[in-house]
Amino acid sequence: MRYPMTHYPESWFRVAFSDEVKDVLPVSYLGKKLLLFRGDDGRVRATSATCPHLGADLSGGRVVGNGIECPFHGWKFDGGGACTEIPYCERIPPKARLETFSVREVNGMIFVAEGDPKFEVPSVAEVGARGWSRPHRLRWKIRMHVQEIIENAVDLGHFSHVHAYREYPKNPSLSVDGHRFRVSIESDRRVLGLVSNTAVEITYHGMGLAVARIHSNYVDMIGLLTPTPIDEEYVDVSLWILFKKTRNPLLDFVTSLVVPRDIRADFANDIPIWENKAYLTKPLLCGGDGPIMKIRRWAEQFYGAPAIRSASLVSLGGTGG
Ligand code: FES
Ligand SMILES: [Fe+2]
Repeated sequence: MRYPMTHYPESWFRVAFSDEVKDVLPVSYLGKKLLLFRGDDGRVRATSATCPHLGADLSGGRVVGNGIECPFHGWKFDGGGACTEIPYCERIPPKARLETFSVREVNGMIFVAEGDPKFEVPSVAEVGARGWSRPHRLRWKIRMHVQEIIENAVDLGHFSHVHAYREYPKNPSLSVDGHRFRVSIESDRRVLGLVSNTAVEITYHGMGLAVARIHSNYVDMIGLLTPTPIDEEYVDVSLWILFKKTRNPLLDFVTSLVVPRDIRADFANDIPIWENKAYLTKPLLCGGDGPIMKIRRWAEQFYGAPAIRSASLVSLGGTGG
């Protein structure tokens, strides 16, 4: 076992993009085959994709009203998973129901959760707003645990070694508040040979969504990072990047070509490390490493441990804990 903790923490995870769910969409995440379908009322539901009758794959079924009809014997299930009709039988067996998942459709994405998380997926006002570009979509399938990418945000020691930072980040700070944490970092980065002072603020909302606000000499942008566990091996990582429009369409065009390419190349530097590293429960940390253990304690709430409720703002001047 590569990791001591479950690969499926309790959080909202992005399982599709809104424009992909027209009627029925099967997806494989969280070690399960899930069925997403959009009812006549426009709302998306998520259920298990296997019919409890004789095991047909419901992704071959059709949406009826706000429910789904099985392609095999025509049993109908409502959006809450209950069987509402069997075409050839009056009495519906009480156990005839589909496993259901909580769903939120926010920011052009479909998020699901097992159970009922105690927090909501925040809406990011800039998505679809005038004055902001459409999202540029990046995607990776990476062999790791979803926590690796989260620890990466506070792993100060790797920024200049793995990424294009000229020096160790300046004025880093971390605030932890229940299901959220926010890390702010300033740095000088090289982009296409130009040095740019960049301020990055990343807020994680549970383990499935990070919203990054990035302000540099050249560009203002927002990143929506959604890492979703596929199974006990792989994580599906999506990054949407939105640029604030300037008064110069040519500059905006060049930015939209250059920056996503630069981010993709930068991200690629982390991937072989994530895919091949071991997860040490007691890493040998030193001053300057960043608050990796603090983030691990924050993450424990999604593995069933009580949340860290108190808000705290700390400067990260060199503690490993
Ligand atoms: S397998 Fe679904 S209705 Fe029979
Ligand atoms: Fe990294």
